[in-house]
Amino acid sequence: MSTLITNIAELMTQDVEHRVLKDAAVVIEGERISWLGPASAAPAADDAVDAGGRALLPGWVDSHTHLIFAGDRTAEFEARMAGESYSAGGIAVTVGATRGTSDYDLTRLALGRVAEAVSQGTTYLETKTGYGLDVENETRSARIASTVADEVTYLGAHLVPAGEDPDEYTDLVCGPMLAAVRPYVSWADVFCEQGAFNEEQSRRVLQACKDAGLGLRVHGNQLGEGPGVQLAVEFGAASVDHVNYLSRADVHALADTWSGWESAAGAGERGTVATCLPACDLSTRQPLAPGRELLDAGVPIALASNCNPGTSYTSSMAFCVTTAVLQMRLSIHEAVRAATYGGALALRRESGNDVDGERAVGSIAVGHRADLHLLNAPSATHLAYRPGIPLTHAVWRAGARAR
Ligand code: NIG
Repeated sequence: MSTLITNIAELMTQDVEHRVLKDAAVVIEGERISWLGPASAAPAADDAVDAGGRALLPGWVDSHTHLIFAGDRTAEFEARMAGESYSAGGIAVTVGATRGTSDYDLTRLALGRVAEAVSQGTTYLETKTGYGLDVENETRSARIASTVADEVTYLGAHLVPAGEDPDEYTDLVCGPMLAAVRPYVSWADVFCEQGAFNEEQSRRVLQACKDAGLGLRVHGNQLGEGPGVQLAVEFGAASVDHVNYLSRADVHALADTWSGWESAAGAGERGTVATCLPACDLSTRQPLAPGRELLDAGVPIALASNCNPGTSYTSSMAFCVTTAVLQMRLSIHEAVRAATYGGALALRRESGNDVDGERAVGSIAVGHRADLHLLNAPSATHLAYRPGIPLTHAVWRAGARAR
C-alpha cells in the first residue's frame, strides 16, 4: 500500500543536507518513505492526500520523558510558583503514588500520555523508570515502559529512598535491580546532582550499566555546576540531559566528543548530545540551558519534553521548539532539527540499523521510517510565530495515520 502526500508548501526534511523543499510531495510505502521531491514529478500511488499547502516535518523525537507514574504534584508546583526552589526530594511523593497503583492503571496512565504526545506530533519516544526505586517496582515500571514506549531507560538511580543508606542503595541499583530490569531496557541513566547521586555513586552506576551492555545517558548540571557532563563524556554516554549550568570546560569537553563525526555526511563516531529541556527549565525557574552556545561550539543538541509530574508536566514538543526560538535564540530550523534529528541522535536512531532492520527516525529521506507531522500552517516558522496555537494537522507514525 502506497500513499502520496502532495501539495506540501514546505518540506523540512532535516536530512544530512538540511534540505527544505517548496511545492513538494512525499510517498509512503508501508512503514517507510519511498520517494520525495517536487510535487510536479511525483509518481502515482494507491492513495493520495492533499496537504493543502501546509508544512510537513519529521515527527518529533522525544528523547527524554518519565511517563511511568501515578499521582499529582500540583501543590509542589504551586509552592514553586510562590518562590520555593525545586529539590530532588519531590520524587519521593511520586514514588509513593506509583507503588500504590495497579499494573493496569499504571499502564493505562502511561498509554494516555503517549497518546497525548502522538496527537501533538511525537512519533518516537523514550521513557524511563525511576518512580519505583525498589526491585519489584522498578522492574514493573520497566516492563510497562517496554509496552508503551519505543526506547526504555533504567533510572533506578533517580533518588535514594528515605531511610536507606546511599551506598547500599547504589549497590542495589548496580546489582539485583539492574539484573531484574535488564530484559526490558536498553539504556541507563543516573541523576548526578546534589540531593541525588554524587560523583562516586554515579560512576559506579554508569560502570555497572555499561558492563551490562546498556547505552548510557546522564541527568547532569541541572541545579548547579557539577560532574555530570564530565562523567557523561568519560563514559561515552549518548546524551547528557538538562545541562543548565555549564563551565567552558564542560562545553569544550562535549564538543571534543564530536571530533570524529562528519556532520555533513552523518557519519563517523558519535559523541555526547546535549539534551535541553526548556519546559522543565521554565517550570523549575532555572536558567534556560545554553543551547545557542552549545550549537556555536559544535555540540549537537536535542530538545525534549522531560514530561514528568514534578518538573515538566507537558508532552508538548511544539512548546519546547517555540521556547527554543523565542528564548534560547535558536533559528526555527535549528529548533526543529533539535526536536527531530537531534532527539534521534541522542537515541542513536538517526540512521538505520541493518542488523535488525530498524529504520532511521528523525528526518525525512528515502528508506527512513515514515514518521511525519503535517502542520496546520504553511511553514514551520509558524511554530514560533504563533506560540501556543495547536498546529498539528495530521501525523503518520511508521507509515500509519496516527491522527
Ligand atoms: O528530569 N531531574 C530529575 N528527574 C526529573 C524530575 C523528577 C521529579 O521531580 O519527579 C527531571 O526533571
